[in-house]
Amino acid sequence: MASDSLKQVAFLASALKAPRITECSKRLAETARDAGWTHEDYLAAVLEREVSARQASGAELRIRAAGLPARKTLEDFDWDLQGSVRHSVMSLASGAYLSEARNVVLLGPPGTGKTHLATALAVQAARQGSRVLFASASEWVTRLSDAHQLGRLSPELSRLARYPLLVIDEVGYLPFEQEAANLFFQLVSSRYERASLILTSNLAFSGWGGVFGDQVVAAAMIDRIVHHADVLTLKGASYRLRGRRNDSLPSVTLTGSGSEG
Ligand SMILES: Nc1ncnc2c1ncn2[C@@H]1O[C@H](COP(=O)(O)OP(=O)(O)O)[C@@H](O)[C@H]1O
Ligand SMILES: [Mg+2]
Repeated sequence: MASDSLKQVAFLASALKAPRITECSKRLAETARDAGWTHEDYLAAVLEREVSARQASGAELRIRAAGLPARKTLEDFDWDLQGSVRHSVMSLASGAYLSEARNVVLLGPPGTGKTHLATALAVQAARQGSRVLFASASEWVTRLSDAHQLGRLSPELSRLARYPLLVIDEVGYLPFEQEAANLFFQLVSSRYERASLILTSNLAFSGWGGVFGDQVVAAAMIDRIVHHADVLTLKGASYRLRGRRNDSLPSVTLTGSGSEG
């Protein structure tokens, strides 16, 4: 009898820890009978439900474990303001850069969407099955110097190497001490040609020497980062301040904007 078989399916599905098979097997069996599916069609439809539910919950877990500052996606990015990078970002969304261990660098003034796009690419990578970690440059340095103090820098870098993508947000907001610059350099070197980084910065590369306190260190690091990288430059005014008149922002000094409002 069909109901005996379904009971057995439920038992076997629970042994496989595949609850969606139990949920959908009866309903899909009816659909299959009505629509004249083959046995193979039915089996594929049932397994497909289980697999897509697992992938969705895997993606959700990876997104939650990534430490994103906010959930931002490519779907809610307004390309009218950043049309010049649309094509590049959309090709990155395929995730091919991850398997090639290429990097992405997002440069541009504050509020132009660097963190948004870095987050959206991280979400995309998580959806596609990659583990991701997101933190600001200073948070990365804190994490590495904690590991260093415990004598565990090398295992920490090996652990991080198992993540196909690390996002380093806000390089350049705070200058680094020499020790911090050295740790940051080790992070970049450990991933060179092995796994991807997405970096964002409000400074052009020419300003990185000031951040790392040393032009030579900065040059060596930039060299490794950009050897295999897409460098995207965002332009324009801050999205945070859109629709506001410049003269309504007394704390913002706009050079060369004149005094007439
Ligand atoms: N083109 C855009 N479309 C939609 N939202 C945007 C866009 N650019 C920026 N934002 C939003 O504006 C805010 C600031 O952007 P953010 O990515 O943090 O800028 P940045 O990191 O370059 O300083 C965020 O809430 C972000 O989601
Ligand atoms: Mg930002």
